[in-house]
Amino acid sequence: MALKVGMFMLLLLFSWLCSATASVTYDSRAILINGRRRILISGSIHYPRSTPEMWPDLIQKAKDGGLDVIQTYVFWNGHEPSQGKYYFEDRYDLVKFIKLVQQAGLYVHLRIGPYVCAEWNFGGFPVWLKYVPGIAFRTDNGPFKAAMQKFTEKIVSMMKAERLFETQGGPIILSQIENEYGPVEWEIGAPGKAYTKWAAQMAVGLNTGVPWIMCKQEDAPDPVIDTCNGFYCENFTPDKKYKPKMWTEAWTGWYTEFGGPIPHRPAEDLAFSVARFIQNGGSFINYYMYHGGTNFGRTAGGPFIATSYDYDAPLDEYGLPNEPKWGHLRDLHRAIKLAESALVSTYPTVTSLGSNLEAHVYKSSGGCAAFLANYNTNSHAKVSFGNGQYDLPPWSVSVLPDCKTAVFNTARLGAQSSQMKMTPVNNAFSWQSHNEETASSDDSEATTLQGLWEQIYITRDNTDYLWYLTDITISPDEGFVKNGKSPLLTIFSAGHALHVFVNGQLSGTVYGGLENPKLTFSDYIKLRPGINKLALLSVAVGLPNVGLHFEQWNAGVLGPVTLKGLNSGTWDMSKWKWTYKIGLKGEALNLHTISGSSSVEWVEGSLLAQKQPLTWYKATFNAPGGNAPLALDMGSMGKGQVWINGQSIGRHWPGYIARGGCGACSYAGTYDDKKCRTNCGQSSQRWYHIPRSWLKPSGNLLVIFEELGGNPTGISLVQRTTGSVCADIFEGQPTMRSWEMLTSGKVNKPKAHLWCPTGQKISEIKFASYGLPQGTCGSFKEGSCHAHRSYDAPQRNCVGRQSCLVTVAPEVFGGDPCPGNMKKLSVEAVCS
Ligand code: GAL
Repeated sequence: MALKVGMFMLLLLFSWLCSATASVTYDSRAILINGRRRILISGSIHYPRSTPEMWPDLIQKAKDGGLDVIQTYVFWNGHEPSQGKYYFEDRYDLVKFIKLVQQAGLYVHLRIGPYVCAEWNFGGFPVWLKYVPGIAFRTDNGPFKAAMQKFTEKIVSMMKAERLFETQGGPIILSQIENEYGPVEWEIGAPGKAYTKWAAQMAVGLNTGVPWIMCKQEDAPDPVIDTCNGFYCENFTPDKKYKPKMWTEAWTGWYTEFGGPIPHRPAEDLAFSVARFIQNGGSFINYYMYHGGTNFGRTAGGPFIATSYDYDAPLDEYGLPNEPKWGHLRDLHRAIKLAESALVSTYPTVTSLGSNLEAHVYKSSGGCAAFLANYNTNSHAKVSFGNGQYDLPPWSVSVLPDCKTAVFNTARLGAQSSQMKMTPVNNAFSWQSHNEETASSDDSEATTLQGLWEQIYITRDNTDYLWYLTDITISPDEGFVKNGKSPLLTIFSAGHALHVFVNGQLSGTVYGGLENPKLTFSDYIKLRPGINKLALLSVAVGLPNVGLHFEQWNAGVLGPVTLKGLNSGTWDMSKWKWTYKIGLKGEALNLHTISGSSSVEWVEGSLLAQKQPLTWYKATFNAPGGNAPLALDMGSMGKGQVWINGQSIGRHWPGYIARGGCGACSYAGTYDDKKCRTNCGQSSQRWYHIPRSWLKPSGNLLVIFEELGGNPTGISLVQRTTGSVCADIFEGQPTMRSWEMLTSGKVNKPKAHLWCPTGQKISEIKFASYGLPQGTCGSFKEGSCHAHRSYDAPQRNCVGRQSCLVTVAPEVFGGDPCPGNMKKLSVEAVCS
């Protein structure tokens, strides 16, 4: 007993000591955790963009990738869907997510916002907030500030109650209030300034014990830290000398919009931007996104943000490493961590090594670390530094954690690349269809109002769909009736998509785009004498998430709506009586659920609807074996929404073809979101992620609502696996092995490391060339110099294995095929 009491006292003392010493502070150099300055590598993973079942694996892969911190926004509209009714379950179980990060031994940066932007519906604001009387968002406005404070306090007290702040023994080391408010403040002036002050004071007043940051906020009130967001941040300086240089959003790629191509950011350029930031005194970097994931349900913002939020992030939408990005950054992080003690002890000394060539050296009692940079976009450089000679490819930085050994160069990939493939796994679905009726003004649930009303005001965003219905009475005396012509119907809509039905027949579909959501329908329509039913199905495709007072932007048919070509000229129908019907009949009947779907008649076989607008489809299927991530190939469909076992996997819109420029992509040179895009002329999004955890072994219900008309028999269930892996390794290129071998005294020869994911093996060497091969993974070609025994070593070492190494040196390939040239080994190995 005495021992037990003694132990307890000791524990108490220990926990008291811990909490007494646990601290997160900062100085001009870095964030200090428990008194120690740190270089912190962080990555954004937004909890509702994956499933709780995926979280542990994503977090582990982030840790394996060299991350110290996971950053997430808090999604207000997910947590308070209706005012005062909170939700913290399932994908919105914030506490669970944070605790999983803690269990993995990582820290958390909690960006409470509550404005988050994030290509998330309404920037994270609940739609009810817009209808609070007298409200104006993100400015010095009483009702807004009260609501924002209430939610922020709610989150902070929840974190405190769970002891999740670092000072309480938890993982949260940083918080964020607001998001990129600086540019808004700049536009609106005085009320913006007042709001910034208020937001900072309100946040600091919550006494979390850890620092607050405000990103893109040059006047961040003390002690809040102003931080940088962008593709590059090396030249950023915080607002005060005593604040550290932090980068809260290093964009790893960019988002996809419906109608746009798919952006890619080369790993070499991303690593280059990070190395430059660190060499210039940066000490905190967060990858936005590290895992982008999926905009399930109707959570995508925009409007027109795609369902996939892959972002070309280091972990792809499905949670698989996006190689070479994931591995290349992991190697960069290792190199930076080897230099950490030198880095945090001092500031760099910068010297020129030639034109557009620089050395950044950190030298102190903490050690010596150096970064050698070549900013030229075309030319290679050989530089002398200390007693050594170093090769610097264009647009690259080499990291020397001891000021001697180059262990990493941002333009030299040590990590393999991979080619992913989507392979069908099921037999064809056996489909049934059900027609969604065109709504009519006689519907008992419809409401008739004078004139045209704004869509979100009516729907409160409970659905994407709103019917605008009216009757057009045509006299037999109308000239067009007699001469067989048709009058011209013109409809102006604030967006985002519109289907026009005349007497139950689809007369046309129009939609806007991210740049301009507004649309115009203008076409001749067939009208008969008597009553004609005009039914306009206006469809929202995500509410705006960014822009000055985006909460005031409208959606829906706001007019004018006119009919031209009548005896009396043109009718302005805008002031007519319109009947409003919220949502689809199938939505009201819950056709996407098992119980709801049995409430109507479905047809199949020869009666199955094909290429018919407004159609519901359903099928059941068994879950395929294994654990490869799954997706639906929706390439044959148009636009709508998809549910699996009642859960929405998001909006599908393969009918929206990617416009814009796609072209050759060199990693060298300043990146922006228009560079390095793919998919032009194809669907912006063809595949839709189905989380494994939403499936049962058998009898899964798949329901699709199709607006435009598609061919359901073209849909297939696919699994995502690695098709092949590639290495592209230069002779003598810096590698972490040079560091490991430093102590053993062995010669530094880089090695190609190839590996297939667990469950797959290398079955074949598809390509191998030691010499001057050309092209990239998947399209390698022999160049003017090729060692004739290039295939031998890869075949011998790799085929039949899950993972293998091939040394990149002439003797391995039967001798030097072209002395005096800088050679490389390119290999593509098939994973089966
Ligand atoms: C930033 C914003 C993020 C995200 C990003 C683009 O400006 O802070 O939330 O929207 O742009 O992906």
